[in-house]
Amino acid sequence: MTAKIIDGAAISQQIRDKLASEVAAFRAQTGVIPHLAAVLVGENPASAVYVRSKQKACETTGLKSTLHKLPADTTQQQLLDLITQLNQAPDVHGILVQLPLPKQIDQQVVLDAVTPLKDVDAFHPENVGLIAQGRPRFLPCTPHGVQQLLMASATQIAGAHAVIIGRSEIVGKPLAMMLVQKGTGADATVTVCHSRTRNLAEITLQADILIAAIGVPRFVTANMVRPGAVVIDVGINRVDDKLVGDVDFDAVKEIASAITPVPKGVGPMTIAMLLKNTLTAARLQTKS
Ligand SMILES: NC(=O)c1ccc[n+]([C@@H]2O[C@H](COP(=O)([O-])OP(=O)(O)OC[C@H]3O[C@@H](n4cnc5c(N)ncnc54)[C@H](OP(=O)(O)O)[C@@H]3O)[C@@H](O)[C@H]2O)c1
Repeated sequence: MTAKIIDGAAISQQIRDKLASEVAAFRAQTGVIPHLAAVLVGENPASAVYVRSKQKACETTGLKSTLHKLPADTTQQQLLDLITQLNQAPDVHGILVQLPLPKQIDQQVVLDAVTPLKDVDAFHPENVGLIAQGRPRFLPCTPHGVQQLLMASATQIAGAHAVIIGRSEIVGKPLAMMLVQKGTGADATVTVCHSRTRNLAEITLQADILIAAIGVPRFVTANMVRPGAVVIDVGINRVDDKLVGDVDFDAVKEIASAITPVPKGVGPMTIAMLLKNTLTAARLQTKS
C-alpha cells in the first residue's frame, strides 16, 4: 500500500481563503483591522524566516502585522517592558514572541507576561488551563494544525488510539490534551511517549494515528508503524541544507494509509491557525 499524502499546503490554503473572507467581513462590520505584533529577539536566521512567513501570511489574509525587532543582548526587563506596552496598546490584538529567546532571558517569565486575551500562541497558563478543561479560548497553533489535518483527511479520530512521540509544552502535551477531549476532532485514546519511554516501538505499533514531534531527523522508521496507520510528522530538521521530518517518509509511506510530508505538511497549518487565533483575539477585544 502506498499512503495517501495529506497535503498541508492545500488544506491550509483553503483555511486561509475562508479566513480572508471572515477577516473582510469583520473589518467591514467593525472598522477594526486585526493586528498581530511579532517580537523577534536576536539574529537566529530560522526564527527570522518563520517570523517573515507569518507576517506575509497576515498580509495576504487582510490582517495587519508589525515586527518588533530587538538586539540579541536585550535584557529580560527590556523585553518585559515591550510586552507591557503591547499588552496595553488598544490596536494590537495578538502578540507573538518568536522562540527561542536568548539565554539571558527566562522564556517562561516572558510568555507568562503576555496578557491572556492577546496570547495567540496559547502558551499562557490561563489559556493552557482552559484547554485542559475543554473550553479553549485559543488553541495552540501547531497542535490545532495537526487536529485540522486529521479532520480534513477524514481520519477517524473518535475511539482511535493516537500515539504522540514528544511531550513538549508547544506540541506534544497540548495535542494530547486536545485529542483526549470529548467532541469533534477528539475522543481519541491517547498515549504520550518521550525519551524515557520503554519499548517505544511496541507502543507505536499499536497506533491508529501516530504523531511524531521529536526533533530527530527520520526517527520513526517503517518497523515502528502499524500497517494502515495515519502518520503525522511535526518535525522540521535541517539535514545537508534540506528540510526533513521526524519520520522516514520514503519507507513509512509504503506502510501507512496516510502521511504528511515535510515540508508542506504541518508547517503551513501552524501559520493558518495563528491567523485564525489573531482574528479570534480581535473579536474578543472588539465590542460589537
Ligand atoms: N511544523 C511546525 O510548525 C512545528 C512547530 C513546532 C515544532 N516543530 C518541530 O517539531 C519537532 C519537535 O518540536 P518540540 O518543540 O516539541 O521539541 P522539544 O521541545 O525538543 O521536544 C521533543 C520531545 O521529543 C522527545 N524525544 C526526544 N528524543 C526522543 C527519543 N529518542 N525517543 C522518544 N522521545 C524523544 C523528548 O523527550 P523528553 O521530554 O523526555 O526530553 C521531548 O518530549 C522539532 O523538529 C521542531 O522543529 C514544528
